[in-house]
Amino acid sequence: MDITPPEAHPRRRPQQLGEPIVASKILVLPGSLRNGSFNVALAAAAALELAQLGADVTRISLADYPLPIMDQNLEALEGIPENAMVLGRMIAAQDGIFIASPEYNSSIPPLLKNAIDWVSRIRVDEGRETRPWQGRVVAFGSASDGRFGAARGLYHLRSVMMAVGAEIVTDQCSVSGASHAFDAEGRLTDERVRTALTSTCRSLIRHAAAFGRPGG
Ligand SMILES: Cc1cc2nc3c(=O)[nH]c(=O)nc-3n(C[C@H](O)[C@H](O)[C@H](O)COP(=O)(O)O)c2cc1C
Repeated sequence: MDITPPEAHPRRRPQQLGEPIVASKILVLPGSLRNGSFNVALAAAAALELAQLGADVTRISLADYPLPIMDQNLEALEGIPENAMVLGRMIAAQDGIFIASPEYNSSIPPLLKNAIDWVSRIRVDEGRETRPWQGRVVAFGSASDGRFGAARGLYHLRSVMMAVGAEIVTDQCSVSGASHAFDAEGRLTDERVRTALTSTCRSLIRHAAAFGRPGG
């Protein structure tokens, strides 16, 4: 695992029988910047799980890609911000994405929605047509200290990600009572939640290999 933005890989076709296995490239994206964030903890647990399942994992923080609030006047004047282009390039280079998101008032936190919206405006990069979210396989996790583990927000997030053309994995993992859900090493303590995370990560890798390969 590293937090270095990956080089965009060339467009790949689906793997053929007998070819060496190419690890799925998975980006792990937490939707919070809060110190001690439960969703950053969930993202770390997911990144570890995905790596153990054989994926080539990149974990990032949106703190490293600050963006102005989506504003079409600003977009018309200055174009798409460079950080959104960098995020878009990174997303386009993946087979799959795992998003760990809080819910704010049962919906998507503005930090995450803003990043999704800016990246959704990209149509061309270095002279080539591109829509970074189009066809990317995306799986979700969520965490909060409440009873529902921020699961309600994921329904909104699913709908938004469908609108931008992503392929959505059905399995998801929501961590309730998050202030007590991780041990000192950052592992999930509840076996049912651990199993849900493993299933979600497995589904993400399986679907990413089948559908998510750029050009595949
Ligand atoms: C504006 C706002 C609205 C919130 N709404 C909800 C909510 O609907 N459900 C919930 O479980 N927690 C809600 N919370 C509490 C968050 O779950 C809590 O701040 C959580 O720690 C955020 O995730 P993080 O730890 O990854 O930063 C809200 C927090 C804020 C700031």
